[in-house]
Amino acid sequence: TIHFLDNLMVVTQFFVFLYCKLLWRGLKFVVRKFTGRCELQRICYNNKHGARRTLKIESSLRYSKNELLQSALSVHPDKVEKTIDDVMALKKINPDTNPQLSISLQASLLQIVGYRSLVAEVEKLRREPYDSENQEHEDMLMKLWKELRPDTHLAGRISKQWCEIGFQGSDPKTDFRGMGLLGLHNLLYFAEHDKATALQMLHDSLQPKHNEINTAEWEQKNLDKAIGFSFAIVGINITDLAYSLLVSGALKTHLYNVAPEMPCLMHFQQTFCYLMQEFHRFWIEEDPSDIMEFNRVRSKFHRRILRQLKNPDMALCPHFSASDLHLVNL
Ligand SMILES: *[C@@H]1O[C@H](CO)[C@@H](O)[C@H](O)[C@H]1NC(C)=O
Repeated sequence: TIHFLDNLMVVTQFFVFLYCKLLWRGLKFVVRKFTGRCELQRICYNNKHGARRTLKIESSLRYSKNELLQSALSVHPDKVEKTIDDVMALKKINPDTNPQLSISLQASLLQIVGYRSLVAEVEKLRREPYDSENQEHEDMLMKLWKELRPDTHLAGRISKQWCEIGFQGSDPKTDFRGMGLLGLHNLLYFAEHDKATALQMLHDSLQPKHNEINTAEWEQKNLDKAIGFSFAIVGINITDLAYSLLVSGALKTHLYNVAPEMPCLMHFQQTFCYLMQEFHRFWIEEDPSDIMEFNRVRSKFHRRILRQLKNPDMALCPHFSASDLHLVNL
């Protein structure tokens, strides 16, 4: 009889499931008949542009039973316009009487497929190792020096001077290992486009933490532990943080709110600048006694950013690019 009861349970569960599913579909059908709108339409009309709308459209497409709708998520960016026309036709929506709808859907779909291609682009840079035989890589590295140390002549490509901007040894090449060219691209973008913040952060990282032992000798010996971190090394590590936020999808809220259409590498680099600035501030607030606390401070910072990104209205706005980040009202 136990066997029989087990079977009965399974069968009952199955029918309850079927019932719920039919009820859900029936409900959608009734809402559609009642309002004359399909789910995508309702999402567009009830949510303002940005992450609120795009995240809902993304999940509606992902869980759709229709193949065209599901595959829309992975179309090539060039095919977005055509795909939206097909979706409108499938849903029997007249584009002439609903011009705003296809514009909104198109903007959201561009954000969705743009995010995917940004992940691919960032991944490619991360996998490309720093190569000292490559002139472009070498030029970028030299440029980084010039931006951060404009008044100091670099004695040679291999030099202890690299420690002054927070590398670990006399050849920065080895420090890029974890993040490849992505780390160098980010550091250079920060130094070029948010120069004042970068120089301030570098300056602070070179200040002795305890004023009472502020001697030249001490400074020399403790260059890399001044306020507890090395500028370039932290930059490479915060690149890792930005990368994992991107790959996990956590950055969707931010990027869907700041990029009116396709998010691109520039948006990622601006996010990096913001994270550097915030991490710097957070480090000072936390006042760790030394670099041994880096793990703890970093995890706490990571959790805080993740929490902020749970809010669909969140945009991690770097102060410097307000003009680049205006939202286009679609
Ligand atoms: C950054 O720091 C964390 C915590 O210390 C570590 O787990 C991670 O591997 C570091 N990433 C890089 C690229 O160094």
